[in-house]
Amino acid sequence: EQIEKGGFDHFMLKEIYEQPSVIKDTYRGRLHADKGIIQMSGVEDHLEKFLNADRIIIVACGTSWHAGLVAEYIIEEFARISVEVEYASEFRYRNPIINKNDVVIAISQSGETADTMAAIKLAKEHGAFVFGVCNVVGSSISRESHAGAYTHAGPEIGVASTKAFTTQITVLTMLALRLAKAKGTLSHSDFHRYLLELELIPEKVKEALGTIETAKEIAAKFKDAPNCLYLGRGYNFPVALEGALKLKEISYIHAEGYPAAEMKHGPIALIDEQMPVVVIAPKQGHYDKIVSNIQEIKSRSGKIIAVVTKGDTQVRELADYVIEIPETSDALSPLITTIPLQLLSYYIAVYRECNVDQPRNLAKSVTVE
Ligand code: G6P
Repeated sequence: EQIEKGGFDHFMLKEIYEQPSVIKDTYRGRLHADKGIIQMSGVEDHLEKFLNADRIIIVACGTSWHAGLVAEYIIEEFARISVEVEYASEFRYRNPIINKNDVVIAISQSGETADTMAAIKLAKEHGAFVFGVCNVVGSSISRESHAGAYTHAGPEIGVASTKAFTTQITVLTMLALRLAKAKGTLSHSDFHRYLLELELIPEKVKEALGTIETAKEIAAKFKDAPNCLYLGRGYNFPVALEGALKLKEISYIHAEGYPAAEMKHGPIALIDEQMPVVVIAPKQGHYDKIVSNIQEIKSRSGKIIAVVTKGDTQVRELADYVIEIPETSDALSPLITTIPLQLLSYYIAVYRECNVDQPRNLAKSVTVE
């Protein structure tokens, strides 16, 4: 097992560090930035299904559901197709409206999650086209789907998903770009710019891994916190959910992710000098809005840990701790902002002496209801 961990203390850390290379593996052969092309075999053969879709319904569980939320923002923005994201376990039992012109995307690392499997069977019964985004080749969900695209994350051993999440976002971003190209919903120059930017993501992820020392320092400070709040807006709202989930899963600290502006409708009541609040505040996106959310936290003495773009000064003045990440466009930022949050939860769990790779009560693959 020590050999399999490749010199890392845990599989989770190894998998966090694999992200630059597995993101590249995931777009290799599909993304041709020099030629201005994205080709995904599972999409090319079924492009009409997507183009004629009344809407896309994404079904997933856990971290994969968070990737689905990111995809909702990206697909709607780039391809202008209406997207709904559903917990597979809710979808399957609520007699949902599914039409034959719907495209259902199932996202699943293992490809074996029982609820996601049941959701796609239901979608197929109603005549929908099912597209699977799975990591495990030949898995049940990949076989049950009409078409799909694999993430090439390689085996993920740590129960808390890391590299599966970022490779899922990579696939779904390419899908959104491919559909945008076919529909003409992005200008030629924007399309091209995103291809080039996607190609730069592995390098930027590598740079974001350099936040490890800062993450350790912050983890040491907050390892005994009983609660933690994660806030983000737009593309980084799902990242806030995922950051909170990672912390809960492996450190057993109660954590909640929230859209930053929604804070005033509840969670703000929890903020006092004991409450760490992780705010994802990159320069692109709703920066001014998030700065005012940070001010609201500060005026209630919350402890602010902010993920900011390199060189940021405004948030730095307000925050107790800042984690600097390289700049990207708003739409691609979840691939970068996620990284320090993975490291933060990892070190908090390590300092609390938790079983990082196999947290209590959790399973890697949930094949029963
Ligand atoms: C379990 C795992 C999570 C995962 C979820 C969905 O809860 O512990 O890490 O996100 O299942 O799994 P899937 O394989 O369908 O992505």
